Amino acid sequence: MSEIKGNPVVESSPLPERVEKILDGFRESKATFAACDFGIFDKLNNSSSPQSAKEITEMLSSDLDATTRLLDTLVALEFLDKSKQGDQWLYKNTEIASKFLTTSSPDSQLGTISLFNKILYPLQGSLESAVLDGNIQWMKAFGKSPEDIFRETVNSTEEDSLRFNKGMHSMAFSASYAVAKAVDLSAFNNCCDLGGGVGTLAYALCQYNPQMKITVCDLQPVVSLAHHFRPSVEDCPNQVNVSFMIGDFFKPETLPKADLYVLSRILHDWPEEKVELILDNVFNCLPSGGGLLICEKILDEDKRGPKRALLESLTMLVATGGKERTASEYKHILDKHGFIVTQIKQLDQSLFMDAMLCIKK
Ligand SMILES: C[S@@+](CC[C@H](N)C(=O)[O-])C[C@H]1O[C@@H](n2cnc3c(N)ncnc32)[C@H](O)[C@@H]1O
Repeated sequence: MSEIKGNPVVESSPLPERVEKILDGFRESKATFAACDFGIFDKLNNSSSPQSAKEITEMLSSDLDATTRLLDTLVALEFLDKSKQGDQWLYKNTEIASKFLTTSSPDSQLGTISLFNKILYPLQGSLESAVLDGNIQWMKAFGKSPEDIFRETVNSTEEDSLRFNKGMHSMAFSASYAVAKAVDLSAFNNCCDLGGGVGTLAYALCQYNPQMKITVCDLQPVVSLAHHFRPSVEDCPNQVNVSFMIGDFFKPETLPKADLYVLSRILHDWPEEKVELILDNVFNCLPSGGGLLICEKILDEDKRGPKRALLESLTMLVATGGKERTASEYKHILDKHGFIVTQIKQLDQSLFMDAMLCIKK
């Protein structure tokens, strides 16, 4: 406290960057998500020259003042550059926006962003309720409370399914190659990726394990759109080793035989009793000495991090009723179900998964 002419004055501390980040973080996300939803970065990428706010407004059929504010915010966020020509400002993508926020870029994050914007943003908005009652928040966010999220919501229409699977694909893409590189699977010839989505991990695994035939097993709506995500032979020369079939990991009779099963971002989706059922089913399908590759973001033993795993665990709370676990917690459940963990690979913090290889005792 100091004084001005005898009056005490409270001196405020500057905001630490951490606090500033949380005050602005969700607003930065929402501005960027909205721009992606409108296709602003795609439109600018496809334009032969920088565009004025008026031209972008006409393309979007939007409000000029509101659109200009959004564009200027994107300049501050370093996703757009603007330069003055005559009496008007012209906008173009920065390098980072072209690389990560446009549809045609191989590094596009638009799938993840669309999933976060349309599904996770509303669900995460009910976090307080989830912390109070410990339940998923579909009823609060969307007016429906599904028994099985994958059958009743995220895959209920082709549009929903495409959005969800684009999101899963873009979240898993870099991590899949990191897993395939890090884990030695040379002992296995027949792999089945359970709930393997559109094959993102399978295509990475087949590149590092040319000896392996891989069957991706998932629900019917996912299998029926998997062809959209098949890489070219130039990008993935072993893609012919990857095939798809409809199957249900809760019904072991629908699963193909394999000497290696994969559960990538499956166990974190389900409550404890369902996790136990999935592991029982895998155990019963595997020959002795067979493998189980689990890909999940692994929490540190003291649960201080990684931040991404903790945030994912809150997402599972509101979205699926599952959670993230530490390596010891996984080892405990796996041991109970007859598996020994033989390799644990913690990958880069920024990736959406780590990997654990287990062998049937
Ligand atoms: C969180 S996604 C993970 C997708 C993929 N493994 C990855 O890591 O990107 C969960 C997947 O499990 C699939 N799934 C949900 N219930 C299933 C079931 N009962 N049997 C087979 N697949 C199922 C979903 O359709 C979805 O593809």
